[in-house]
Amino acid sequence: MLERLDLLPVDPILGLMADFRADAAAEKVDLGVGVYRNDRGETPVVQAVRQAEQTVLARQTSKTYVAPAGNAAFNQSMEKLVLGGDHPVLGTGRLRSIQAPGGCGALRLGAELIKAAAPGAVVYVSTPTWANHIPLLSGSGLELARYPYFHAASGTVDFNAMVGALEKIPARSVVLLHASCHNPTGADLSQGQWRELLSVFQQRSLLPFIDMAYQGLGSGVDEDAYGPRLFSAELPEVLIAVSCSKNFGLYRERTGSLHVVNRTPTEANAVLSQLVRVARSIYSMPPDHGAAIVQEILSNDSLRRSWTDELTGMRERVQGLRNEVVKLLAAAYPQRDFSFIAAQRGMFSFLGIDTNQVRELCTRHHVYMTDDSRINIAGLRADNIAYFANAVAQVLRK
Ligand code: LMR
Repeated sequence: MLERLDLLPVDPILGLMADFRADAAAEKVDLGVGVYRNDRGETPVVQAVRQAEQTVLARQTSKTYVAPAGNAAFNQSMEKLVLGGDHPVLGTGRLRSIQAPGGCGALRLGAELIKAAAPGAVVYVSTPTWANHIPLLSGSGLELARYPYFHAASGTVDFNAMVGALEKIPARSVVLLHASCHNPTGADLSQGQWRELLSVFQQRSLLPFIDMAYQGLGSGVDEDAYGPRLFSAELPEVLIAVSCSKNFGLYRERTGSLHVVNRTPTEANAVLSQLVRVARSIYSMPPDHGAAIVQEILSNDSLRRSWTDELTGMRERVQGLRNEVVKLLAAAYPQRDFSFIAAQRGMFSFLGIDTNQVRELCTRHHVYMTDDSRINIAGLRADNIAYFANAVAQVLRK
């Protein structure tokens, strides 16, 4: 039977990791996969994670199953982290949460929930969106469609085009939004734009499915949650898929959560029962370790402070690199305005060069990025940022 299977191309993002590792050039620069890096190019274990992990292991007396919905204390702590401790939906009985194997697991759980509730539902995703949104969501059998999002010339959100499109899609459609640090563009909605978007969602009864993979890496833990908090306060139903990969640096521990705001507590119970069924039918139960660590950090004042401080350091480093690379690009290639990079948030920006130029940066200069010219800003550092800017200028000059 298996001889019928075709060999598939490698994943556009993860394939870059292997290519980069195989490149022997000393000057190589990895701006590919979206992981945070420090100024030595490392992705160290977050200090609070290191400490919490020791406590978790010392306290653990059993490896028996937790539950299909995961660690209940973790789920509650994540609700407060995402929505804020005094959010009006907390305590209404309308919110249900499930621990998930990473943000990807949370997105897939949400997609399966939508599929169960409305098999014909169409999910609208931004153009462009994170490459893995497509297989993750369509793998559940849902149909996907697009809405315009990015104005390439200015490097900002094309808000008029976005709203214009969302005003025309069928009522009750599902719309995937990025809470902050839009992947791949780095162009985020302002608070005013979130508020305007809210009235479109209200008028058209659209269901927001919010991907929150970078809380704290854009403008701050609370600032990055502005949209999810507003929508959860004002709309009857909201789905929020959360990842702890980047902000807690727990990538390989596959830690995330899905939060669903419902119209009533009764409907919330039905939703949770459906999510548990989906989880049971795919992977049964989520891995425990990362969630136990996050729960330990969020429930311990000193660990939480340490985590918040380190997260602030990561965010400020990325913003500093954004400012620095704009200056260096302006000096190396003044013909083009790259100032949009400094105005964007999170780890990603589109450089705005074509695929051939991306390939040339890779083959001649050993600079790695995805074909659409998305760069992971955190891959830049003091000893490669000028090299990168000069390489881009050389490719643009040709
Ligand atoms: C990325 O966009 O590079 C990250 O989210 C990693 C991944 O899984 O694609």
